[in-house]
Amino acid sequence: MTDLDQMQQELSAAIAAAPGLDALDAVRVRALGKQGQVTALLKSLGGMTPDERQTAGPRIHALREGVTAALADRKAALEAAALEAQLASETLDLTLPAPAAPMGSVHPVSQVMDELAEIFADLGFSVATGPEIEDDWHNFTALNIPESHPARAMHDTFYFPDDAARDGRRMLLRTHTSPVQIRTMTSQPPPIRIIAPGRTYRSDSDATHTPMFHQVEGLVIDRGIHLGHLKWTLETFVKAYFERDDIVLRMRPSYFPFTEPSAEVDVGYTLDKGRRVVGGAEPDGWMEILGSGMVHPNVIAACGLDPDEWQGFAFGCGIDRLAMLKYGMDDLRAFFDGDLRWLRHYGFAALDVPTLSGGVGA
Ligand code: DAH
Repeated sequence: MTDLDQMQQELSAAIAAAPGLDALDAVRVRALGKQGQVTALLKSLGGMTPDERQTAGPRIHALREGVTAALADRKAALEAAALEAQLASETLDLTLPAPAAPMGSVHPVSQVMDELAEIFADLGFSVATGPEIEDDWHNFTALNIPESHPARAMHDTFYFPDDAARDGRRMLLRTHTSPVQIRTMTSQPPPIRIIAPGRTYRSDSDATHTPMFHQVEGLVIDRGIHLGHLKWTLETFVKAYFERDDIVLRMRPSYFPFTEPSAEVDVGYTLDKGRRVVGGAEPDGWMEILGSGMVHPNVIAACGLDPDEWQGFAFGCGIDRLAMLKYGMDDLRAFFDGDLRWLRHYGFAALDVPTLSGGVGA
């Protein structure tokens, strides 16, 4: 028996006897690795005379191929056996309770936005959106707030550097959701009924102001719209939102550049052990909740519509404040701290989708 035959037999035996994948790999390294027996034979071909190589070459190559094939076969067999064993040993008892999964919750701001969408959908409003990075035409000019208007200064605007201007318009972080009114009127024909919830930004920070906060805008444009429509819509909305019928609203004359006439709307509250609770037929006091009015003809005209044909009303209010009033939080900053304990306490279960029939906040 030649050395080659013997080596072949030994290696075949080792391969067949390898009890597992690690052991099999050790055999592979012993035969075919850099320092392996078969590798050494292959290297020796270089030092042979052409005649020697003629006879030894094919035999050495055949040995290498045989060993390689045997290794692959054994590997496949071992893997199949391992899978069999795993399948036989693993069972899944579907009657066991599911393991406790870490649970997220819906942030109160998202919850209130969902509630608003649900309430207004019932009144025929759809949800509109606009960019948070706005230009000063949409945020101010088209809303009847020209360059020199004092309201621009009141907004504590975050402006982008001048060289970020687009089409000659200065860019900024929108200071309110009102520019969505403009974007909606310039992109779809009336009649229009939308709400636009979203993020807004002002350079302001204390217990009741954060640089980023949330507003919702409402806009209706149609023929023959008047203050009565506005008042009914707001009353219907506030009653549905606070889930009480004994809500009293008070409209105070006010001023916004984009509405004429304008009104600030207060909701009556009653005192319950010193705490203000929204509602009660005979209020102990009033809290301001939103700004509103009839859309100014200049705004309608800026959007390319004829103000003699189309009228409308608009309103805007802070979502964070709405959430605080309904769910009893007293510090606005906690909304944005990302504190898990606060989120667990005030958050809502992900599957508790607000519905009017179920009670929007239930
Ligand atoms: N945009 C106003 C603000 O941020 C809120 C507002 C007031 C919106 C009256 C309106 C409105 O649409 O009619 O203070």
